[in-house]
Amino acid sequence: MNERRPMIAGNWKMNLNVKESLDFARTLLKETAGVEETDVLVAPPFTALRAVGETLAGSRIFLGAQNMHWEAGGAFTGEISPSMLLDAGCSHVILGHSERRSLFGETNEMIDRKLGAALQAGLIPILCIGETLEEREGGRTFAVIEKQLEESMKGLLKTGSMPDSVILAYEPVWAIGTGKTATPEQAQEVHGFIRKWLGRTFDPGLAAKIRILYGGSVKPDNISELMAKEDIDGALVGGASLKAQSFVPIVKYARI
Ligand code: PGA
Repeated sequence: MNERRPMIAGNWKMNLNVKESLDFARTLLKETAGVEETDVLVAPPFTALRAVGETLAGSRIFLGAQNMHWEAGGAFTGEISPSMLLDAGCSHVILGHSERRSLFGETNEMIDRKLGAALQAGLIPILCIGETLEEREGGRTFAVIEKQLEESMKGLLKTGSMPDSVILAYEPVWAIGTGKTATPEQAQEVHGFIRKWLGRTFDPGLAAKIRILYGGSVKPDNISELMAKEDIDGALVGGASLKAQSFVPIVKYARI
């Protein structure tokens, strides 16, 4: 047993309007009441953040955003600043999700700036990394992961330290929304690699504290075997986080 607290995070992506988000947040509050062994987080779309934040205030469910800009404010049409997320009630922010990288051109360099800005503002980043199918089949998984870590954490590497609140999420791109989950062994292999890299790059004591979530087609029927692996500390759930009937059993995986 390690000292890391498990986290189950739901990324709602571009789904649910304000009313649907509120109804769902209230259902989750009811159905996860009493879950103390696991941290729970939801990341609604921007338009629903504030309303969901008010509903979750004082509860054990954390509120996260799905993205943000690194600047504090100014002429950046369509963007959201770290302080706006705090103002809406967020404690966390997902950064570098593969959909942001592949569909919206986010680079490691941009993610590095976002990571620094989030930490500076007092938001806890959930930094996503992961390889594509082509990269995996070409035997480049570890090289790709290492490059993403090095480049998207450049600012932290320069300081030589990393707050232990930072959360990493390993999400193999080929497993996102495809129904193809990495096997627990495949996921563990990469999680172990990431933790070793953290130990080498920062220090082993810190590496032992950092939570590394797995993401990619997590469902009620595969969560337990993933969570049984030594270096898997939780899940970042997309599709299955949109319905109580699938998200609640994932949150309660330890009780099933
Ligand atoms: P999925 O998405 O669970 O629908 O595969 C995971 C994610 O994108 O975080």
